[in-house]
Amino acid sequence: MEFLELAKNRYSERFFDSKPIEQEKLDRILEAGRVVPTACNYQPQHFFVIRSEEGIAKLKTVTHFHYNVPVMILVCYDMREVWTNLGDRYYRNYNSGEQDASIAATTMMYEAEELGVHTIWIRGFDSKTVVDTFGLPEQMIPVMMLGLGYPNDRAGANAWHFKRRPIEDFVTEL
Ligand SMILES: Cc1cc2nc3c(=O)[nH]c(=O)nc-3n(C[C@H](O)[C@H](O)[C@H](O)COP(=O)(O)O)c2cc1C
Repeated sequence: MEFLELAKNRYSERFFDSKPIEQEKLDRILEAGRVVPTACNYQPQHFFVIRSEEGIAKLKTVTHFHYNVPVMILVCYDMREVWTNLGDRYYRNYNSGEQDASIAATTMMYEAEELGVHTIWIRGFDSKTVVDTFGLPEQMIPVMMLGLGYPNDRAGANAWHFKRRPIEDFVTEL
């Protein structure tokens, strides 16, 4: 499928089947997150795969937005690996971790879409609770969670998906 068509077809899935994702597909999705560009090529992204019974039970305690996904990827960046611009006069000690991790997450999201795996991007969680509940190493900074799975019979885009502002609102010539 042409990329723009793929991008327009994607929507946030909130109704997942319990069917697990095939290992080969999960491997391809994670691979898509591996090869992304990152600032100075420092590659600070890290993916925690949550799919065990114990992991899913913990997941349900850290976010209401779990939607019973069979697999959640918690996308973090490693503070020890991230590029930092100490000289930025606008942002104090700016680091590119959120950008790097978001590029990885976005790329995985579209790889999943291409494989017929539906996704939901989740930021509705408290980072400290996530770090404590999963016992993450202290250098790992949670950025988002990517829910993955197959749609169930209630699946479909909600109204927000169809509300997009026109291109003129987004583009300005300087
Ligand atoms: C940064 C970000 C955070 C989001 N967090 C949540 C979330 O916590 N819970 C949720 O149900 N959806 C979440 N979403 C999904 C958005 O609500 C959704 O992308 C938006 O309404 C547009 O709908 P669409 O993805 O179906 O096109 C998030 C999306 C982004 C990009």
